[in-house]
Amino acid sequence: MRILGIETSCDETAAAVVVKGQKVLSNVVVSSLAEHKKYGGIIPEIASRRQLTCIKPVIDTALNEAGLRQDQIDAVAVTVTPGLIGSLLVGTSFARAFSWAADKPLIEVDHIKAHVYASFLDAPKNQPKPAKHRPRPELPAVGLVVSGGHTSLYHIRSFQNYQLMGQTRDDAIGEAYDKVGRILNLDYPGGPIIDRLAQKGKKSEIQFTCARLPDTLDFSFSGIKTAVLYYVRQQKNITPTQLNDIAYTFQHSVVDVLVQKSVSACRKTKSKTLVVGGGVAANQTLRQRLTAEAAEQGINVYFPAMAYCLDNAAMIAGYAYHIHQ
Ligand code: KG4
Ligand code: ZN
Repeated sequence: MRILGIETSCDETAAAVVVKGQKVLSNVVVSSLAEHKKYGGIIPEIASRRQLTCIKPVIDTALNEAGLRQDQIDAVAVTVTPGLIGSLLVGTSFARAFSWAADKPLIEVDHIKAHVYASFLDAPKNQPKPAKHRPRPELPAVGLVVSGGHTSLYHIRSFQNYQLMGQTRDDAIGEAYDKVGRILNLDYPGGPIIDRLAQKGKKSEIQFTCARLPDTLDFSFSGIKTAVLYYVRQQKNITPTQLNDIAYTFQHSVVDVLVQKSVSACRKTKSKTLVVGGGVAANQTLRQRLTAEAAEQGINVYFPAMAYCLDNAAMIAGYAYHIHQ
């Protein structure tokens, strides 16, 4: 079964063709991010207008790269929630029209559930093969979503059965990264930049504590963001070394909590598999620490290929296959 996936929930316009939920024939993503940078965040009106101009060429390119005509697609899948309403409207309208014109089923997909599906996709064609054969993750599993808008832990018994175990009570993890980036005068989005700076930083006298919310699997990241703000306000100027150390300390504190809660969720559900998804799944410290600490507990951790961490349509088309089944 060949599914055309469409993703337009935020600033990315994406289309992909995926066979049987696994084999990615094409995966095209364009983003209007550059147009939002000067505002320090996504402007919904700009995002939806760019969706309109990009949607048709992006879908045509995805079909071309897959070597398929419109009538050779078996179903069309689209993100219906959550997201910016104007951006979602473009993708869902296009998908409905495509489904009607081609007389193929339309599959509605939840973006967050699709993020944790990304680890189940075959690795992209251009990516070097891993040295060791890596088996596909198996269900039941715990799913950790770490994106710009969400931080959630799910117990995934099957692709039809996601049970929410915990979520953020305020900022999402990606949002906290981006706000700290803004406090530090970094470009938008701050997440990948802080990750890079943190690799050059070290443990110092700077301390930021991330709320632990013991006895729950919920998260809270707004306190640590404010702690960074107060620290920065107290400094006359921030040297490059200090900047790296701030990034290091912030990153280590939030990753600590993500690791501890994910391992607790696995213990609670007796899961031996942990799948991670969302933009922050690209974070180097999270990838290293979670893999190492979960291994000590006998848990296998799966991160998506880098191309499938950020918003993309391959995860939409892949997950849609299981909804359709
Ligand atoms: O999943 P995503 O593309 O969008 C949403 O669905 O929200 O995630 C975007 C988020 C942004 O907040 C960005 O700063 C963050 O992912 N991000 C990172 C890294 N790469 C992207 N955060 C930390 N470390 C990274 N390497
Ligand atoms: Zn996303």
